[in-house]
This record gives sequence, structure tokens and C-alpha cells, in this order.
Amino acid sequence: MQYFNIAIDGPAGAGKSTIAKAAAARLGFIYVDTGAMYRAMALFALEKGIPPEDEEGIRKACCQADITIAYEDGKQQILLNGKNVSGQIRTEQVGNMTSKISVYLPVRKKMTELQQKLAANANVIMDGRDIGTFVLPNAQVKIYLTADTRIRAERRMKELEEKGQICNLDEIEADIKERDYRDMHREHSPLKQAEDAVYLDTSRMNPEQVVEQIIAIARKQGLSNGGKENSDTL
Ligand code: DC
Repeated sequence: MQYFNIAIDGPAGAGKSTIAKAAAARLGFIYVDTGAMYRAMALFALEKGIPPEDEEGIRKACCQADITIAYEDGKQQILLNGKNVSGQIRTEQVGNMTSKISVYLPVRKKMTELQQKLAANANVIMDGRDIGTFVLPNAQVKIYLTADTRIRAERRMKELEEKGQICNLDEIEADIKERDYRDMHREHSPLKQAEDAVYLDTSRMNPEQVVEQIIAIARKQGLSNGGKENSDTL
């Protein structure tokens, strides 16, 4: 059976996970957050005390880290060597480490294999940096989601404040710029818009508007004729 795949790529803070989660719920698709997989790998390296510059150490760590995903009440959970680490991967420290270690080919190969398997067996909305360009080049829908850097920093700050963390907007913006640069300029599968992706700037859009647009694009690409599971919820 041919499953319907929706790929959403874009820089940090563009709203990918919010949008992808909401669209997946509307369509009855599985949401796959690939950043969480890379974050689990980074957490493993941090716990082992492997510095991000130690490429060989990270390569070896790839063989020791078993990363799998499971779903609880429809929510993705990340398991690292059998332990649920979903609650530990969202810190800025893990985010920065993730951006640094995700430049290495063994890390990317490991994650890509896992992601391709998931997409081959279900209707998925997958978000990340290289999904439309590299992981799922044949996805029926590809979206490149972005927003102004300042707006992305404001969104990130709100998220962190809601978690009770005190932060500085300029520092968050500088951090986002640095991470974007690394993600866009790395040698292996850098973040860029796929040629056949639809570009959506969410700076002045609310999440509902973005989800509507994505669903409209998916319908145009034939979703109503196949792949779709929850037609009555659309
Ligand atoms: O989406 P996120 O902030 O959780 O991603 C964290 C880092 O993981 C990001 O800086 C780059 C890396 N990443 C990647 O290289 N490829 C992906 N498909 C997803 C994330």
C-alpha cells in the first residue's frame, strides 16, 4: 500500500511541531518529530560526556544508542535504550548539542533509516530539516515553513517562560541565528527548501490558517483519493 507522506522542513521556532501536530490530528496521520530523535542522540552523548567536537566518539556512540519511538495517547515518546527520555530533551543545552552533532554522517544515517521505515508503514506528517530534500524525496506534500528571526525568538521565549524559565530575547535570537547557520551550512543534508516544496512564511499567520493551507495543499495533491483515514474530520 502506498502511504501518504507530508514533509515539513524549516528553521527552529518556525512553528513546525505545532502545525504538524494539529494537521496530523485533523487528518488522522501519525506525527513524527525527527528533531526529537536527534535530541535523544545528543542527550546520550551529553550523558556519556562526549564533547561535540569528538566525531569518532559520536560515531561510536551511535552504535550504543538504541533510539526508538512509541506513541502514548497519540503523543510521540522517545525511548533511548529503552528509557523514555521525552521529558529531558527540550532544554537549550540539549538543543545546542543536537545542532552540533547532527552534522555528522553516522548520526544522520541512523536517523534517516528510522524515519524512512516509519514513513513506509503509515500516513505520516514528518517535520525536521531534511525531510523533503533527503529523507522523503517522494513525499506527496512538501512544505518549507519559516518566519522572521525575531518572531521565532519571541515564540521560543514565550514557550520557555511558560515552563518557568527566565530568558533574554536578544540571547535567544542570537542562539537561533547561530543554530540556523549551522543547520543551513553543514555538509550533509543541510536545511534548505526542496525545489518542489511550498514556501510558507508564518510570521503573520496564526496556526489555524497554516494548518488549513497545508490541508488544502494535501487535498490538491490527491489526499481525498487515497491515503486519508479520517475523511469525516476534515
Ligand atoms: O527541530 P528541533 O529544534 O527539535 O531540532 C534540533 C536540532 O536537530 C536542529 O538544530 C537540527 C537537528 N535536526 C536535523 O539536523 N535534522 C532533522 N531532520 C531534525 C533536526
